[in-house]
Amino acid sequence: MVKINVLQNGPCLVEAEGTYVLIRDGKEEVINQKAIALCRCGASGNKPFCDGSHKKINFEAEGVELQIR
Ligand code: FES
Repeated sequence: MVKINVLQNGPCLVEAEGTYVLIRDGKEEVINQKAIALCRCGASGNKPFCDGSHKKINFEAEGVELQIR
């Protein structure tokens, strides 16, 4: 099961069963977390992840829930 919550004025929170594996430049990085936050404001210094920078730039966008059925 995958849950995606697009937070108001913030990142996309992804929660899924399994292991997250980020593949960048052909290298795999295993992320041992229950959930990950993906930046959607473009200001993160740790893309593709949210680092909280959306607050500094006063990012504004609606929040929605995405369901995969
Ligand atoms: S959404 Fe948090 S840094 Fe972009």
